Amino acid sequence: MNYQIQSFAEYEEVYKYSLENPEAFWAKIAGYYKWSCLWREDKVLDWNFNEPNIKWFEGGKLNITENCLDRHLETLGNKKAIIWEPNDTNEATRTFTYKQLHEEVCRFANLLKNNGAQKGDRICIYMPMVPELAIAVLACARIGAIHSVVFGGFSAASISDRIQDAQCNIVITADGAFRGAKQIPLKSIIDEALVSCSSVKKVIVLERTKGDIEMKPDRDVWWHDEIVKVTADCQAELMDAEDLLFILYTSGSTGKPKGVVHTCGGYMVYVGYTFVNVFQYQPNEIFFCTADIGWVTGHSYIIYGPLLNGATTLMFEGIPNYPDAGRLWDIVAKHRVNILYTAPTAIRSLMQSGLDFIKGKDLTTLTKLGSVGEPINEEAWSWYHEHIGRSRCPIADTWWQTETGGIMISPIVGLGVTKPGYAMFPLPGIQLVIVDDQGQEIKGNNVNGNLCIKFPWPGMLRTTYGDHERCRLNYFSTYPNFYFTGDGCLRDSDGHYRITGRVDDVLNVSGHRIGTAEVENAIDMHPDVIETAVVGYPHAIKGQGIYAFVICKQLPKDEVNTRNEILKIVIKEIGAIAKPDKIQFVNGLPKTRSGKIMRRILRKIAEGELDNIGDVTTLLDPEVVQDIKRRRL
Ligand code: PRX
Repeated sequence: MNYQIQSFAEYEEVYKYSLENPEAFWAKIAGYYKWSCLWREDKVLDWNFNEPNIKWFEGGKLNITENCLDRHLETLGNKKAIIWEPNDTNEATRTFTYKQLHEEVCRFANLLKNNGAQKGDRICIYMPMVPELAIAVLACARIGAIHSVVFGGFSAASISDRIQDAQCNIVITADGAFRGAKQIPLKSIIDEALVSCSSVKKVIVLERTKGDIEMKPDRDVWWHDEIVKVTADCQAELMDAEDLLFILYTSGSTGKPKGVVHTCGGYMVYVGYTFVNVFQYQPNEIFFCTADIGWVTGHSYIIYGPLLNGATTLMFEGIPNYPDAGRLWDIVAKHRVNILYTAPTAIRSLMQSGLDFIKGKDLTTLTKLGSVGEPINEEAWSWYHEHIGRSRCPIADTWWQTETGGIMISPIVGLGVTKPGYAMFPLPGIQLVIVDDQGQEIKGNNVNGNLCIKFPWPGMLRTTYGDHERCRLNYFSTYPNFYFTGDGCLRDSDGHYRITGRVDDVLNVSGHRIGTAEVENAIDMHPDVIETAVVGYPHAIKGQGIYAFVICKQLPKDEVNTRNEILKIVIKEIGAIAKPDKIQFVNGLPKTRSGKIMRRILRKIAEGELDNIGDVTTLLDPEVVQDIKRRRL
């Protein structure tokens, strides 16, 4: 790719240029893509962070799937676009060349249209990690429908909230999903979710597990029945650069998850650019990102980023420890993977399983490694470097968020130095600032504070679906004129960045983002519960564990039973990923005189720092703290 940076010196030069001429910089990158109509020259960017109003490439018209697929057909038509590795090792791998993928996407796009889908519709996708999931996502983009993928681990109640919020009219799902030794009954979860979603008129069901399901006449249709009715000819819908491409729900510190909105032009330019630069993708390399497409990492670096660059992307249906903890290494060896992009949680859990699972596995094809989703501790970084990268593969510790669309801080892998635990440097076009609690920029090196971004980049969120004010309040009001990330950050004496974790009430459990308020609301639904406070604590594998302090009408007689009931409610309301690791029943919570829960104190207790609780004199009843400490789990 013509915009691939080749050396650290070039990175420094490009970075400097991008700060001085951001619009010219991004316009040049955008120029490498296929636009049906270019943006107005004076409208590369229109912005203010107060409303916020962010528009990139206004007037430009494109379709992202033409850039992911059609554009490559002539030169790369027979190159593998997707390699799919099934959950079950006995099942055959499936591959799709660019030509085949293009055909499948066009066919499914026509299927969607046949079933009433139109440009601008919101379509919920709740599917296993099979190639049809990528096809469904791309088909939505092809016809200009807005996809809202919901991770297969979320419960019916969570899906229902998301479908209602976006007023989706179509759901694409499967009978079930294979995940390790388990099967997840996706269709019956959808049926339960749809009881309260009157907007949904059609459910398209892929056959995967062949489990028993009910098909509702008029509403539900089989993928395989419908696909034979259509041709593989489907012209891509022309989209404005700022038309919505997708909604992806993510947790914040308050209320229900919000629908982060990304738009067609800017997102395309940003993920394409970051993929090829961060991973230094070379034309014949095989790229394996272990994320689920239900999260932003899967959107940006399984589907869009690689396909925009004509890369081969490997998609894995299963989990890293099934049938055993050597599975990822078997996949690397079997498909001769060159670049592996995974999460610290997976690394820590495989590290704990021991080196026997790596012995004899051919990892020689690996050239580069990546990490994403949570802070990576030095021990995990070094293990990954030594045992997987065999001390010869550089690691990119990539920091970014659902809201940022693509990677923001990362080494350009293989160029320049790296340091365990450090995401190192901002990518070109990214203007970071560290601010103190008053919002004053902290300049210089050897400093830490709250991480903000002071200038737009094409991949940033535009709004939160249906509630622009929420977007402003969440990201743009804490520190005026800055986008606030919610993360703490330090810049060391050499100017390298290290993310220190969330400074708001958002937890990061196994790389999954969970709002404490969501878990609290779920627990509070138990009839005996009066009030709950949830905090995170360090967990050796998951990064953070969930610790819930719960006040019941009276202390439960059978704690085990009440705990189980609470867990069931959390699973039902959110999903198993939000299950608290510890539930402590307490008589009271530490509150200030104005009734605010002092989470700082609860965090210290959950962390086991009992002698370092700090000042409790401002509490309404300092005695509460002693009681909680005594009964700590
Ligand atoms: O706290 C940061 C953490 O994950 C959060 C974003 O979560 P999500 O939107 O689900 O996206 C995850 C995948 C991009 C961030 O606010 N985080 C992400 N990457 C890193 C990280 N923390 C430390 N180091 C990282 N490399």
